[in-house]
Amino acid sequence: TDPVYILGIESSCDDTAAAVLRADADSHAVLSSVVIGQTELHKAFGGVVPEIAARAHAEKLDLAVEQALEEANIQITDLTAVAATAGPGLVGGVVSGLMCAKGLAAALNIPLIGVNHLAGHALSPQIEGQSPFPYLMLLVSGGHCQFLIAKSDDKFIRIGGTIDDAPGEAFDKAARILGLPQPGGPAIEEAAKQGDPKCFDLPRPLLNRDGCDMSFSGLKTALLRARDAVLNDQNEIARQDQCDLAASFQAAVTDILKVKSQWAFQRYLEFEPKHPCFAVAGGVAANQTIRGDLKQVAQDAGAQFVAPPMKYCTDNAAMIAYAGLTKFKRSDFDGFDLSARPRWPL
Ligand code: KG4
Ligand code: ZN
Repeated sequence: TDPVYILGIESSCDDTAAAVLRADADSHAVLSSVVIGQTELHKAFGGVVPEIAARAHAEKLDLAVEQALEEANIQITDLTAVAATAGPGLVGGVVSGLMCAKGLAAALNIPLIGVNHLAGHALSPQIEGQSPFPYLMLLVSGGHCQFLIAKSDDKFIRIGGTIDDAPGEAFDKAARILGLPQPGGPAIEEAAKQGDPKCFDLPRPLLNRDGCDMSFSGLKTALLRARDAVLNDQNEIARQDQCDLAASFQAAVTDILKVKSQWAFQRYLEFEPKHPCFAVAGGVAANQTIRGDLKQVAQDAGAQFVAPPMKYCTDNAAMIAYAGLTKFKRSDFDGFDLSARPRWPL
């Protein structure tokens, strides 16, 4: 049989991404994965500005698609189907991506496939390698924080998650509080290397409560108070305090994720996995301390630990193309009435 070429498009937050996935009868490969970030555009605003994001997506989508086709070394007419994120996310960006996908699908007369961004993340361990269903997934990024049981390509059960901020968001806010650069995660991780994680006693909300829901917003307030207590007369923070606070903050987030992962694992076992597997994805999974502790949770439970390569952990279009492929195989296509769903739980 002829190979299938799926174009994936992602534009739900602040990355404009396009990727080409090739699938044969029983294998698949990512031929290209282009990500055009917008960090610089939003830098001055201390967060993603939806209107600016939407404009940038509209401007860069063509470019991302063109580059993805070029790097994949295929012609646009070789495409078999177009898969695009239809939500959840910032509506302006999602609409831009869907318009682009619809235009291509109409012009090329090929199927249009709307993909749930969270399903893209949840299936990301399958892009390179095979995680056995059902597997437990912790999705931890700047915008998301949830435990999912992936039962199959199209069945996901959410068993818990944050009740307020996502950890990446908390890292970014914490960095701002400590006068460290954005994105906050890598900056805090770096500073924490020179700090003492036990120096400041920060709270671990919900830690002693049953279940795997999490909370991070109180931690941020506590960090603010701890910082204010060590500021000098000029409102400056000493380098060592900065590092100690970073380390203490990271330790608190790590503890929360670790303990709640243990809870999630107990729930997961009710699904009777024959080969237990714990997968993590999202930008925060890049953190070595967090990753190490999560790996330990898996090992203690005798489970396989899977973390997709960083380029598929953070927002990308290869995961959208892959999730699109699973829908393609089920002939689960969408019509041109497909609309953006800013809120779309799995
Ligand atoms: O998955 P991602 O690239 O984008 C979305 O949120 O969709 O995640 C970005 C988030 C940012 O908040 C960033 O601070 C955080 O992931 N992050 C980290 C690290 N690297 C990135 N957090 C902690 N430690 C890191 N090393
Ligand atoms: Zn994402």
